[in-house]
Amino acid sequence: MNLDKVFDNNEKWIKDKLKVKDNYFEELGKGQNPELLYIGCSDSRVTAEELMGAEPGEVFVHRNIANMVISIDLNVMSVLNYAVDHLKVKYIVVCGHYACGGVKAAMQSADLGILNPWLRNIRDVYRIHKTELNTIEDEDKKYDRLVELNVKEQCVNLIKTAAVQKAYRERGLKVHGWVFDVHTGKLIDLKINFEKYLKDIMEIYHLD
Ligand code: CO
Repeated sequence: MNLDKVFDNNEKWIKDKLKVKDNYFEELGKGQNPELLYIGCSDSRVTAEELMGAEPGEVFVHRNIANMVISIDLNVMSVLNYAVDHLKVKYIVVCGHYACGGVKAAMQSADLGILNPWLRNIRDVYRIHKTELNTIEDEDKKYDRLVELNVKEQCVNLIKTAAVQKAYRERGLKVHGWVFDVHTGKLIDLKINFEKYLKDIMEIYHLD
């Protein structure tokens, strides 16, 4: 990737946008009103807006290694609270992807330094679903299933927050879990049963 080319690309992009709408950037400068909060992996292959066909201003995006929602991560929690309480997004999506290097790295017996505490949360997902995962012999299939289960558990982590519980009660905000298949480009809806998970965990995690 040639960094000088980036600025040429940018000039071309500006021209393309103005060709379609001559006040495009005036409108963009007025503010944002995204309806979707997207929490995805930092993996360079999984571009948030492009794979959804979304335009600037439509999606509030947070990306980290293996699309984790960790309750003491100030970054994801700030993004969540701003999106839910201030931007009043209508939907939250956790989007994982098959062949996720973060998920695979989490299951290796190796000291990865600062990544250890981050990826430890994925080992916890494995432990919760060990019975199912241990029946899968093919290693790639096992990791792909772990990717799906990780998305599910991160959705549950979102439901554990006061912001999501309050927004569900007040305006029916729900959490969705998706997986992007890097081998085909297909986006898969895991059809997370929000109400079921909410009901399951509220006995212990009820905040608002
Ligand atoms: Co990844």
